[in-house]
Amino acid sequence: MPTTDGTGLIGRHRETALLRSAVHDVLSGAGGGTAILLRGEASIGKTVLLDWVRTEARRRGCTTLRAVGCETEEGQAFGALHQVLGPLMERPSPAVSRHRREALESALGLRDAQPQSSFMIGAAALALLAEASRIRPVVLLLDDVQWIDTSSAAVFSFLCRRLAGLPMVIVSAGRPGARRPMAGRRGSWRSRS
Ligand SMILES: Nc1ncnc2c1ncn2[C@@H]1O[C@H](COP(=O)(O)OP(=O)(O)OP(=O)(O)O)[C@@H](O)[C@H]1O
Ligand SMILES: [Mg+2]
Repeated sequence: MPTTDGTGLIGRHRETALLRSAVHDVLSGAGGGTAILLRGEASIGKTVLLDWVRTEARRRGCTTLRAVGCETEEGQAFGALHQVLGPLMERPSPAVSRHRREALESALGLRDAQPQSSFMIGAAALALLAEASRIRPVVLLLDDVQWIDTSSAAVFSFLCRRLAGLPMVIVSAGRPGARRPMAGRRGSWRSRS
């Protein structure tokens, strides 16, 4: 079936409008950051929707970061966080204190050090993302959240609760009954429309 709205997707008008408006809000400064959860059965089109919003957000000048949960890596602490923050850790982060930067490096296996508390790692991740979002709004995409490792999921939940006032959108996608879906204040969807 051909599409008529240029998204390349069949249907999904409500979902693309919701995602487009969340990206627009952070670009225009009209609203604070937001977290959106897409929840639906296998093959219903969650990943294609994330792909679409990534393209859309990049086209509009956002930084996009992504992690995909993987069944075989579910036991690897901070594996998904490493996917998200890896690109940001490659560059200097003058606005992040040395203590926080070292906490992240330790969590992500980039330095040998005493493990820090989950609060410290969450606060450090927030500081790094906040710094990036001041340069360009950040859209963070989390796919297959049902397989994201527990320690990363805790950090992502921490971030979802602290988005207000930040130009950052977190879009999570996962199957129903996911053990640790990320917070999403705009609800979920089920069928193709
Ligand atoms: N609205 C849509 N428009 C066009 N193609 C779609 C749409 N929804 C799903 N598809 C197609 O269906 C297939 C499965 O979609 P997708 O991989 O996004 O599903 P999913 O919900 O992420 O599944 P899973 O839970 O297994 O990860 C893909 O080939 C995708 O291109
Ligand atoms: Mg998928």
